[in-house]
Amino acid sequence: MRILTGIQPSGTPHIGNYFGAMRQVCSIQDKGETFIFLADYHSLTTGPDPEQLRQNVLELALNYLSCGVDPQKSVLFRQSDVPEVCELTWILNNVTPVGLLERAHSYKDKIAKGFSPNNGLFSYPVLMASDILIYGSNLVPVGKDQKQHLEITRDIAIKFNNQYGEIFTIPEELIPEEVAIVPGIDGQKMSKSYNNTIPIFGKEKAIRKTIMNIVTDCKQLEDPKDPDSCNVVALFKLFASGEELEEMKAKYRAGGYGYGHAKQALFEKMWSYFEPMRQKRAELENNLDFVWEVLRKGGEKAREEAQMTMDKVRKAVGLR
Ligand code: ADP
Ligand code: TRP
Repeated sequence: MRILTGIQPSGTPHIGNYFGAMRQVCSIQDKGETFIFLADYHSLTTGPDPEQLRQNVLELALNYLSCGVDPQKSVLFRQSDVPEVCELTWILNNVTPVGLLERAHSYKDKIAKGFSPNNGLFSYPVLMASDILIYGSNLVPVGKDQKQHLEITRDIAIKFNNQYGEIFTIPEELIPEEVAIVPGIDGQKMSKSYNNTIPIFGKEKAIRKTIMNIVTDCKQLEDPKDPDSCNVVALFKLFASGEELEEMKAKYRAGGYGYGHAKQALFEKMWSYFEPMRQKRAELENNLDFVWEVLRKGGEKAREEAQMTMDKVRKAVGLR
């Protein structure tokens, strides 16, 4: 079974990314051969600064390797190390109805927000279909927001197969149901775009300060408090086991336990949870050659697969 997922390289990762995406990707690598790529071609649709994009690719590779991607089990690579996906995108464009792309939520949302779309943004789902189909992927772990893109991928694959013969495997998405939305320090969904994140990696002092800034209500130290409506508890839950969590909840209800205490407990828990990953990251930062080598080897392996698919595709459509 081939498992594949792509991640856009964009900025400093936060604990919402970790619990919402990175952890799943890392845990799935035992289930089958997993391809994980850094979607730098897709990032171009929003016109990033070139140096920033390069930096973000490295940052994402470091994060995934620190948080548990094992290059012995998974193929980690840069999307643009396999330029064949662009060739396939062009070929698939010709079996993709414009209406299918016009109905894409992510495209419509961006337009609704006043974004002036380029053609790259419009055909984003076709590039994504190429990413998936070129490696014969069976299972694609993604967030809920990507469900429609997988439906579009299947539509394109079926249409191509009907027209040219059974070339492509029809993939399925794997959407983790139980992943809660991790709240940010202001209580909204944690997101880079809302400036409310707690980064996974950072200086102790800065992370502590961020945690101390989590918004709570104005109850005094002695007041009993409601654990179920508190952001600090919602975040503590990510790190604490049943008993520890119940203890904190009981302290909330009893009174005499302040939000400052709870934030301190959250900081300690989070800091020790990410300790092994911080260590791994520090090691990798001192050995960037290794990181680039992982990406280079991964790219080579992925490209071999892609080339085999492209041979069949080119023949099927009449280019050879
Ligand atoms: P951001 O909103 O910070 O820009 P991305 O859109 O880059 O985050 O998300 C990358 C991955 O992390 C996606 O799979 C997304 O579902 C997951 N993710 C992001 N924020 C959260 C959150 N607050 N809770 C759970 N998962 C999240
Ligand atoms: N569109 C995905 C996202 O924003 C990233 C992505 C690109 C992807 N190509 C993919 C995910 C192929 C899975 C498979 O999250």
